[in-house]
Amino acid sequence: MPDPQKAVRLADYQPYTHCVDSVDLTFRLVPEATRVTARLTLRPNPERTGRNALRLDGEGLKLLSCTVDGKPVKPEIDAESLTIPAKSLPAGAFTLETVVEIAPDANTALEGLYMSKGMYCTQCEAEGFRKITYYPDRPDVMSRFRVRIESDLPVLLSNGNPVGRGKGQAEWDDPWPKPAYLFALVAGDLKAHSSTFVTVSGRKVDLNIWVRPGDEDRCAYAMDSLIRSMKWEEEVYGREYDLDVFNIVAVDDFNMGAMENKGLNVFNSRYVLASPETATDDDFARIEAIIAHEYFHNWTGNRITCRDWFQLCLKEGLTVFRDHQFSGDMRSAAVRRIEDVVALRARQFREDAGPLAHPVRPESFVEINNFYTATVYEKGAEVIGMLKTLVGDAGYKRALDLYFDRHDGDAATIEDWLQVFEDATGRDLSQFKLWYSQAGTPQLKVADDWKDGVYTLTFTQANPPTPGQPKKDPKVIPINVGLLNPNGDEVVPTIMLEMTRAKQSFRFEGLAARPIPSILRGFSAPVVLDRKGLAEERAFLLAHDTDPFNRWEAGRALAKDVLAEMALKGAPPPPAFLDAMASVVFDESLDPAFRALCLRLPGEDDLAQTIHAMGRIPDPAKIHAARREMAGALAIRLGDGLQRLYKDLDDSAPFSPSAEQAGRRALKMSALGLLTRRDGGKLAASAFARARSMTEEIGALSALLDVREGQAELAAFAARWRRDANVMDKWYGLQIMNAEPSEAAAVTTRLTETPAFDWKNPNRFRSVIGALAANHAGFHHQSGAGYRTVADWLIKLDPLNPQTAARVSTAFETWPRYDAARRKLARAELDRILAAPGLSGDLREMVERMIAAR
Ligand code: PHE
Ligand code: ZN
Repeated sequence: MPDPQKAVRLADYQPYTHCVDSVDLTFRLVPEATRVTARLTLRPNPERTGRNALRLDGEGLKLLSCTVDGKPVKPEIDAESLTIPAKSLPAGAFTLETVVEIAPDANTALEGLYMSKGMYCTQCEAEGFRKITYYPDRPDVMSRFRVRIESDLPVLLSNGNPVGRGKGQAEWDDPWPKPAYLFALVAGDLKAHSSTFVTVSGRKVDLNIWVRPGDEDRCAYAMDSLIRSMKWEEEVYGREYDLDVFNIVAVDDFNMGAMENKGLNVFNSRYVLASPETATDDDFARIEAIIAHEYFHNWTGNRITCRDWFQLCLKEGLTVFRDHQFSGDMRSAAVRRIEDVVALRARQFREDAGPLAHPVRPESFVEINNFYTATVYEKGAEVIGMLKTLVGDAGYKRALDLYFDRHDGDAATIEDWLQVFEDATGRDLSQFKLWYSQAGTPQLKVADDWKDGVYTLTFTQANPPTPGQPKKDPKVIPINVGLLNPNGDEVVPTIMLEMTRAKQSFRFEGLAARPIPSILRGFSAPVVLDRKGLAEERAFLLAHDTDPFNRWEAGRALAKDVLAEMALKGAPPPPAFLDAMASVVFDESLDPAFRALCLRLPGEDDLAQTIHAMGRIPDPAKIHAARREMAGALAIRLGDGLQRLYKDLDDSAPFSPSAEQAGRRALKMSALGLLTRRDGGKLAASAFARARSMTEEIGALSALLDVREGQAELAAFAARWRRDANVMDKWYGLQIMNAEPSEAAAVTTRLTETPAFDWKNPNRFRSVIGALAANHAGFHHQSGAGYRTVADWLIKLDPLNPQTAARVSTAFETWPRYDAARRKLARAELDRILAAPGLSGDLREMVERMIAAR
């Protein structure tokens, strides 16, 4: 049994002892006994001195034979490795051949080679390849892979180009050296939705999306997204695809969203399959973004990979940044930015404010799977956005060209990345680098002053302590600012103020009157802006700001202030706020998607985070009540205008997943939600009956559930969709997320007793147990039933699938912010998880970090 809490440290990095020049793999696929033959050509790494033993990673493998240059050797074997002592190795290059046996049908962790509904599938990032064969399973060991698959299944896929196909076998050759985490193999009875793409230099690429028979007609949107991604990548980053084929496979059992294996992306089927009847507009947007994300990894991740897992943000932050850019270009950039910031605050700010806070580039970890986080991904992307703001568009382009030029084929580091920006722009980025090493969300206070015709903005930054980092230095913060005059004209268009000190002032001269500042436009830095008590300024910006992000942000800040007051003091919804909302919602000159976003109230967890940041203890029940009261007040204030709005948006154009139509549907569904509070569900019931898309079906159903109606509709929905797991996930989630807080745990338990609750499937587990965690007032209910139910299921899932159990455990990451009674209940559940027999290292690390908070 390996010590489950042994940490790996960035400071201990050493290059591997050997170089792997080529890898030949043969798989004889059998569910309970697959045989993997691996022939590696190895030589000592010139970067290491002395004669070294050869240590390969390997877990859960049954070794059948091991030879060096054809002669049998007896290696040392433990639970995680195979070692051949230096004295048993030739001085120079040699060939190692191992044969192992593994059991994909017994693999419930969905890491390594596993089976999903009769198909074979692999997942190797981060450290899954060691569950397939003995190998130096680390990203800085890059090699050429050749793969032979023996099986009677009709479709046999691996990375690279197909080089041979015969009865019961197929061969693949990947010309691009890669780390083992990008290896993939898929075998099954699959059907392709195919197309082609001609690259900018005229090479023809075969594109296939492989799915289970019957799903072929749900791939068109994913294919269209792929082709647009390929084109965008050529036009915006000048990067072309580099193989003859690009394959995507959809699997139902997958721990994450998707995986960028070279030439063979594997996707969670929920991020591939879509039709108007089965996918919501949010699903379409997410499919487009994830298809793009995985495709973009071909350059940022695959051609240039990471030296070690501490550098994960090198590929993930950059690739998220790029997929955000792409979505912004495909859709409304302003709307996308708002949605991205909503998600950033909901997931990353939450993480950064709690016991799991860690730097974008962590310095140690126990289980790397626990660091595929919002901080590495989303904050990692924000850091790149700031870099681009600081060096400008032209500087960014020069730096990226240099990055691809200089590091193609490398396993690189954040130091390499920043060096490229320094060399391309001449800037010193040593202070900027703190964004990679210091955790926590900076708090930015703003004060302004108007004197003798000079307007001064003074910013103060505070960098709060986080686990292991009590004290911090000031960061570089690019603050985009514009100034408006009192009649709403912009007198100073957006400029970037570069803050580098703890406290800093910026002066504006030549203004005729005291301006109204619009600060942090476009959310130019991932900070909490503290500008309190200026309701009029916020209302003014909501009505007049020329920066669409800040216009929305003004309304958002207003809504948070008001809802916090309501939750803390029982104050009624202020009429001025309701008026301000009405003027935005009914402003026909504004994009419907934007109006829908303004109408969406901040979530309960977000409000709890806000109240906690004010130094108060959030009460989930009061927050829930305040939010409902506000929705009721809005429904009354917006009045009959809502009906008109709903009718106007109810057009009969044929369905398109376009951003334009999606925006109209979003506003229409918000209007329906509010109208339902007035008519008790009449309109929603008829909307459900005549829904022409999943967006409308779900919109109507959640409106009904929100007013405790909709039981007949729920039954009809289940009858219609019971064969479609991805749609049924929505059915499960919706009921739990909309459940009365006092009943949420009981509703969850009841749903776990339905025959279709296949808890070993990560999507289903998340759509039920994850949904309970997402019902803020239900999860944090004072009875403790929410905590207990989630803990029960984590304990049950952990032995089978530690990775997903550990991810869902983040439900508890906010426990220190609540009152003593709730903390006691949550802590007891965390202790109970820790005491579970056979607890995985994954879940143990998470729980121990969460407990360390207090
Ligand atoms: N690298 C994948 C992505 O970001 C995520 C992933 C990580 C998938 C680990 C599976 C396992 O696209
Ligand atoms: Zn990624």
